Amino acid sequence: MSNNNLSNKVAVVTGGADGIGEGIARTLWARGARVIIADIQEEKGEALAGELGVNASFALLDVTDPSSWERLVTELESSPGRLDILVNNAGGGGFGNLDQLTIEEWRKIMALNMDSVFLGCKAASALLQADAGGSIINISSTNANRAWPMFSGYCAAKAGMTMFSKCVAQHFLETNAKVRCNTVHPGPIETPNFRRLSAAEGAEQLMADWQKNNPFTEIGTVEDIGEVVAFLASNEARYVNASEFVAAGGTLL
Ligand SMILES: NC(=O)c1ccc[n+]([C@@H]2O[C@H](COP(=O)([O-])OP(=O)(O)OC[C@H]3O[C@@H](n4cnc5c(N)ncnc54)[C@H](O)[C@@H]3O)[C@@H](O)[C@H]2O)c1
Repeated sequence: MSNNNLSNKVAVVTGGADGIGEGIARTLWARGARVIIADIQEEKGEALAGELGVNASFALLDVTDPSSWERLVTELESSPGRLDILVNNAGGGGFGNLDQLTIEEWRKIMALNMDSVFLGCKAASALLQADAGGSIINISSTNANRAWPMFSGYCAAKAGMTMFSKCVAQHFLETNAKVRCNTVHPGPIETPNFRRLSAAEGAEQLMADWQKNNPFTEIGTVEDIGEVVAFLASNEARYVNASEFVAAGGTLL
């Protein structure tokens, strides 16, 4: 695969200022894409865009807020006037089984992981269809594929957004829109959120259980996910649609 296989493509990466999103933004940029880092963390996002320089910019976006998406799309319409790749990456969740999780926490998890993907796909749909077609990549999780009661809300949200992504793919097929939609399911990846969760109260036992069940699996890097996303964003993946790409070092075995 050529190293510049994304040149002339415009990409939005939500949650692109840090963690997996930063890894994705850097990888797409390195392949020649013009990258818009869309995040609520203005300082970090601006700093990353400044470091990358030409072909990178920051846009303030709260993925849970419809008006924030509308603003971003209006900006994109005026410049650069196109969108080829949308990576709905911003997401996350905390602990909580059925007894522990409150309705407020549940709604927050749904907003961050499900509303975000719905709003992003809907807002960007017309722009993605406008030129030669596009690629939506939604960052799910292995928690969409395997139940983990301590992450009940997060598992539910990631499973929901995974199925929604397939519906989006089929919608674009039915309307001949030439927009593909796939999900990426990372296993444990070293990021600020992963470090926060691992340091939280009660996490030690969870990590020990995870290690016991996955003795051969190492913790992945943000670049591991960036590479998968770069492939799905490229023309080389033109026949890959509505699929779940597990990048988890064998965690689901
Ligand atoms: N780290 C892991 O082990 C892991 C595993 C599987 C899936 N994931 C998924 O990968 C994605 C990224 O996870 P991460 O670990 O890098 O998270 P992180 O918390 O380390 O980084 C998330 C980024 O999203 C931004 N963000 C948070 N809320 C936002 C909002 N409302 N609007 C816009 N931006 C927002 C943050 O500012 C940050 O830059 C998430 O969807 C997560 O569920 C992570």
